Amino acid sequence: MDMQATLEEIVKAVAPLKGQGTVASYIPSLGGVPPEKFGICVAMADGPVYGAGDWHEPFSIQSISKVFSLALVMARDYDSIWKRVFREPSGTPFNSLVQLEADKGIPRNPFINAGAIVVTDRLLTLTGDAAGSIRGLLRQEAGNPTIDIDATVAASEARHGHRNAAMAHLLASFGNLENPVDDVLANYFDQCALAMCCEDLALSARFLARQGVSTGGSPFLSPNQSKRVNAVMLTCGTYDAAGEFAYRVGLPGKSGVGGGIVAIVPGRCSIAVWGPELDANGNSVVGTAALDEFTTRTGWSVF
Ligand code: DON
Repeated sequence: MDMQATLEEIVKAVAPLKGQGTVASYIPSLGGVPPEKFGICVAMADGPVYGAGDWHEPFSIQSISKVFSLALVMARDYDSIWKRVFREPSGTPFNSLVQLEADKGIPRNPFINAGAIVVTDRLLTLTGDAAGSIRGLLRQEAGNPTIDIDATVAASEARHGHRNAAMAHLLASFGNLENPVDDVLANYFDQCALAMCCEDLALSARFLARQGVSTGGSPFLSPNQSKRVNAVMLTCGTYDAAGEFAYRVGLPGKSGVGGGIVAIVPGRCSIAVWGPELDANGNSVVGTAALDEFTTRTGWSVF
């Protein structure tokens, strides 16, 4: 298969879908992103990297950061985080408060906002700098020391983050935070505001296609932990659309409201796509379609 040609064909095939979704506008700095952008990158487990479209343009990774915070906590703590977070699909929007109250402060999974806030809290306890340690991992895996937090996006997240603040306080009221609410939220907003391009993102997540082996060749996660992170991505990575995503794409994936999605073909490659227009669940319309095209054309899926 000619991977480069395949990616270029996918860019053309999904172009007619532009205009069907809505760019996230809950903060002004995301609302201003050009909606027609689209990039795709494939990082092969054994080294080669391919890309097409706007694959070198940085975007806000938002909730995709939740994969890396979970991996960092599991690498240090093995599985003790699962006493504080379930690992079931939520079937509710990523920022729902109702379920957290009903479940007595134990979030359904680590990829909805409430669960991610608990994971960030644990990472803050373990490292003293949760967002900084995620940035360190991304820089190391992507080999790009310029990856950083977009300060404007981070400030905007904090200013408009009432729902996340409510969630963090509710978690604290149930005794499910170890650190002061404001410190946890500051780290959570910073991690959401990390910016990187499709190439950086595909390389950063590639350890999940390599049974946990990092870019440098050392084990970051064990094969068992890597399997588990992929499993939670498959079942919970795209929120209340996880079933639809599994049906269409057939891969573990994690989306963000910046329009990025990272997907993993275990043993083969990691894929990053970016298209800012979102569907009603907060997942990139063009990005999901591109991943659908990718797995259909290559036959690479976990099923
Ligand atoms: O905390 C929030 O709601 C946003 N900063 C991130 C949400 C997000 O990316 C959900 N993904 N689809």
